[in-house]
Formats: sequence, structure tokens, C-alpha cells
Amino acid sequence: MTELTRSLGLWTATGIGIGAIIGTGIFVLIGVAAGLAGPSVILSFLVAGSVALLSGLSAAELSSFITEAGASYIYTTKAFGAFAGFIVGWMKSFDYIIGASAVSLGFAAYLAYFVGISPANTTLVAIGTIWPLFLMLLNLKGMKEASGANNVLVILKVSALVLLIAIGGYHILFHGDYSYYSPFFPNGIRGMLTGASIIFFAFIGFNTVAMVAEEVKDPERNVHRAIILSFAICTLLYIGVAIVAVGLVDWQTLGTSKAPLELALGIATDNPFLLKFVAVSALFATTSVILSSMIGASRALFAMARKGVIPPVLAKVSSRGIPSAAVILSGVVISLIVLLTNADLEWLASIFNFGTPLTFFFINASLLQLRRTMPDANRRFSVPLYPYTPVLGLASCIALALFLNINAIIAGAGWISVGVLAYVINSRQEEK
Ligand code: ALA
Repeated sequence: MTELTRSLGLWTATGIGIGAIIGTGIFVLIGVAAGLAGPSVILSFLVAGSVALLSGLSAAELSSFITEAGASYIYTTKAFGAFAGFIVGWMKSFDYIIGASAVSLGFAAYLAYFVGISPANTTLVAIGTIWPLFLMLLNLKGMKEASGANNVLVILKVSALVLLIAIGGYHILFHGDYSYYSPFFPNGIRGMLTGASIIFFAFIGFNTVAMVAEEVKDPERNVHRAIILSFAICTLLYIGVAIVAVGLVDWQTLGTSKAPLELALGIATDNPFLLKFVAVSALFATTSVILSSMIGASRALFAMARKGVIPPVLAKVSSRGIPSAAVILSGVVISLIVLLTNADLEWLASIFNFGTPLTFFFINASLLQLRRTMPDANRRFSVPLYPYTPVLGLASCIALALFLNINAIIAGAGWISVGVLAYVINSRQEEK
């Protein structure tokens, strides 16, 4: 059987999007970005969100008429053929895997901090190795179970951010103290833009909804809506959190904090329950990012296997409607990477930085191409201001690529070379 089961409605699909988006970016990187941008980190969020939105809108249009699992892999295959599609799918599935390994370590560090054990390397590696395996078992139980757990995690992490905005906002307004907002640009526009390049990470993940399109009910209607809804909800929350965080704590202090949101909330309340809740939300957030990344990676592998570009066993669907071999491979590799790299993911994480502009580039390019080659497809959503939006999207990916450091370029190019080799060997065997 190579057909997945449709079990996700609009809101559960939106939950998969929010599950993949809200993670380390808002809980940790907001501090790093505030340290660079000062209070203008609020604008960093707006800039990063707008750049991500360009590609988000292209993904939304494509998902409104291409509803197979595989998202960017399928779009690129349809627009530019099997080889280009393979390169995108190869990068994307590894991106999910590497991202999940890095976030598993983030989870381990939060857990160690939260329960007060020493964050020694062996402890982090042990927790970071076991947690993805546990989530893999949950994934294998079925999409209903995995998405149900994801919904609970999403409600918890969103509640924590709403609480922070409400309590922090009330504190700022009630005391009428707006002194931390000025100077607004302590490091100039450059500082704000550098902050935006870091914050961009916080918006990645919306495309996971399109990855699971084949498991969404009425996908032509629901997938693009879920992408836009999850993006809009996260953007509003992020901007609210940024306004409150830099209003409560001076930006230099925020910049040096390992737990910036907890620090900010601590200024507005000393209620231990609320403080613990926001602290523990980082665990919910990282868990749902790992869970949805594993879902995304397995569906990307599944889609490629079904087209025969990687071993067909990965396209097998279990009686529970899950591509079980692809889920097991994703879960085991996520966990092995944490174990074998002994918590040092710097090089591998560079592949992630390389993969995101590459996939976003192909999403925008595929949209432009498919508007020409499939002009009559029944698009239930069309990108506004076409062709400027996808062209700007393409330009933003090139700009992001210019920011890549040499490690990212070497690691990304190396990983693509491995993929090309695997592709050639596979095609030769198929020809025999
Ligand atoms: N957007 C995800 C995060 O912030 C990747 O963790």
C-alpha cells in the first residue's frame, strides 16, 4: 500500500504548521537578536516575517492545486524534472533530520536546566538520543495520535506566549514606563537587519503543512489555509512577544540571557507557577518541533521513494496509514546524529542553513514555472501581486545565500554531491 490516510482537518493541519514553526527561535534566539538589534528587534521580526511570507505565499498557491505528499520535492519535480526535484527532496529531508537533531539537543539542555541536573555532554547526548526515539514510536502509532499530541503541545506553547504578552503588556501599560524602547536603533539599521537574519530561523516550518497534504481532508481548500493561518498566528505572537520582551528588560541584558522569555516575565510577575509554566513551555515547543520535523522528513522520503528515486521500501504504508519505514529511518537517524556527533552539530547544522534558501528558492521558481506550464490548473489560492511576490521571494533567497558562511557552503555542497552520487547509482541500477 502506498496511499496515506486523510485524517487532518483545517485546525489540526494548522497545528502541524504551528508545531513546526514555534520553537527555539522565539524561546532563545530572540535574546541573541535583541542583543544585536536593541528594541528594533521588533522590526527584525517584521522584516524576517515578510521575507519568509514571500515564499510562504508561493507555497500556499502551489499547495492549492498540487496535493500529493512531498511539498517542495513534488513542486520542483513537476516544474523542473526528476533530477532537480531529487536534489530539493534530498536537501529537505536531511534539513528536517538535522533540524530535529539540533532541537533534540536544545530539548536536552532545557530539561537539564529545568530539573536542575548538570548539563554535561553525556547527559545531553543521552537525553537527546532517547527523546526522538520515543517520538518516533508515537509517530508510528498513527497520524491521529501524533497530531493529537502535537495539538496539545501547540496549545500549551501558544498559551505560554499569550500569557507573556498579556501579563507583560499589562505591566508595561500599567507602569507607563517605556524607557527601554529608546534608543530604538542602538546599533543602527544594520543591527536590526542582522537581528532579522537570525530571527528568520523562527519562521521556518510552515511548509510542513504542505509536506503532509496527502493526509489532510479536502486538501485543495485546507492546506493553503493552514499554511497562511499558522504563519499569521505565529507572526502575531512573535511580534507581541518582541514588543513586550524589549519593553520589560533592557536589550543588553536580554542579549546575554539563556532564557530571555522567562527573564522578561520575571519582571512583570513573581508568581512561581506562571514563571515555571513559561520555562517549561520551551520543552513543549522543542518537542513539537522534533515531532513535526520527523513527520516532515518521513513524508519527504516517502514521496521520493514512491517516485522511485530512493529505495521503494520507504514508500510502504503500514496498516495504521503511516509510512513506517520512512518514519523509523528518520527517527533513528535523528537520534544517531545526536549520538555520533557527541552533541557537536555545528558542521551538520550548516547544511540546514544551506538547505533553507535552496528549498525556498525552488518553491518560488516552481511557482513561476508552473504558472507557465500548468496555466489552467485549478488554483484555489493565487499569490497576490504576481509575479512580483515570487520574484522578490527568489531574490530574498539569493540574498540569504550571500549571508552563508563558508562552512555552510562546504557542508551543503558536500551533501548535494553525496546525493548526486546516490542518484546516479540508483538510475544505473534501474536501467539494468
Ligand atoms: N522555527 C523553528 C524554531 O524556531 C525551526 O525552532
